[in-house]
Amino acid sequence: MVFHTLAGKVVTGLPRQAVIVGAKGLVRRGRTSKPSSTTDMIRQVLTDALEESNLSTRDLEGLIAVPSLQENHFMEAHYQATSLDLFSTSIEEDRPLRCKTIDTGGAGPVSAVLEAQRMIQHEGLECVAVVAADCVGSMDSTSFLAKADEIFLKHGKLPSPAIPNGYDRVTKYQMETFGLTRDQLRMVVCLQSFHAGKHKDSLFYHKEKGKAYSSLLEVKESPSVTPNISLMECARRADGAACLILSSNRYLKRRGLYEKGMVTVIGTGESSGPLFPPEVMNETPFSCEEAMVYAYEAAGNLTADDIDFFGLYDCFPICLVRALEASGLCSKGTAGDYIESQYTRMMKAMGDGKEDQLLEDPDFFPVNTHGGLLCYGAPWEVPAMYHIIEAIHQLRGNAHGRQIENCRRALVYANGGIFSASAVAIFAKSL
Ligand code: CAA
Repeated sequence: MVFHTLAGKVVTGLPRQAVIVGAKGLVRRGRTSKPSSTTDMIRQVLTDALEESNLSTRDLEGLIAVPSLQENHFMEAHYQATSLDLFSTSIEEDRPLRCKTIDTGGAGPVSAVLEAQRMIQHEGLECVAVVAADCVGSMDSTSFLAKADEIFLKHGKLPSPAIPNGYDRVTKYQMETFGLTRDQLRMVVCLQSFHAGKHKDSLFYHKEKGKAYSSLLEVKESPSVTPNISLMECARRADGAACLILSSNRYLKRRGLYEKGMVTVIGTGESSGPLFPPEVMNETPFSCEEAMVYAYEAAGNLTADDIDFFGLYDCFPICLVRALEASGLCSKGTAGDYIESQYTRMMKAMGDGKEDQLLEDPDFFPVNTHGGLLCYGAPWEVPAMYHIIEAIHQLRGNAHGRQIENCRRALVYANGGIFSASAVAIFAKSL
């Protein structure tokens, strides 16, 4: 095959694509045990992901990391590469290692996938690792809030806890403007817990052993954090880490590791907004909507109908509500009704003893089948990695017990700050 690069160069062979060959994560509640260091956790997930890829640290040409709130290192990717002794390996191999830290908050992991894809497609790197780790679950409440509130209290004029209060502003706006109800927001937790209850690694699975899901009543009775957000509607603080290994399809072919059906990145989009919402909300453009448009376009003008799994950031229910609308799963202002109809479908199936058949229903909530930030666990900037890992499980067909039938394409949206950064990536199985 002959094709032209943007620079007009004629190249023969396979068009260069970024393939995800390794994806591993771990999540822990924290609190009770002594926290592991982020480096120890990254060592573990990097080793596991490389093993899954049939590659080693000797193949790595790039390391992209996102910052940690608890440890807060200068130049995170350089710090981790140095601590893991990756530079010695790169010198031995005469293979330079490019390190980059990406700071778009919770959107970081998806921004990092975009960057890894760019390095592979346009700069000729063959193998890039994306890593993220944090221990916010191990922090006591005062230390966590002191760090999490820092910027928002001063500049955003938000009371503590600043992040939930910032999201409350948007929640209130959405309720007043589109008639979204408090119960519809709570139903997000019920739906997410249903999925998390089927994932053996999720915090919900471990804490609520034997429970099928969190009931609406439980969410209703959970203590208020802000006027429109309760404790169970907050991203569930946790310790954790994750690693993705991306490699070029050509490198994999040369190494005899390439197979049809591997997961590739087929479209990406990014956008930004202010660091916190205005005191009086208005219908300003939402960065998630923009990022979705770019990603769908880049993936060949796809629409929501072409996507089988949606990994949508859900640090608070309002985030998921806005992402459902931006992704096109439902139209603007209708996410509340969409959630309620999904909740009703879930309750009916459970009442009929048919909950195991829910995932065979092509219209049942194809969102966050691992449980999302609300129920799987949320180690600060790590959680979007779990959305990506779940997307990969779904595409590979190994999301045991929660597999969406015939999953061909997956979309992951991640959000940083208080709707301040949006990054979207669309994945598909290679042909
Ligand atoms: N579901 C069920 N239980 C939950 C829960 C949830 N979603 N969230 C917390 N809990 C549980 C905890 O596990 C804990 O129980 P155990 O002690 O048995 O484990 C209990 O409720 C109390 O939780 P905390 O220790 O967290 O309670 P706290 O009083 O110290 O703090 C809080 C309460 C202020 C609401 C705090 O939990 C909080 O700030 N949560 C939000 C975290 C957050 O803002 N994350 C970032 C989201 S924004 C984002 O992701 C974008 C980005 O750019 C980073």
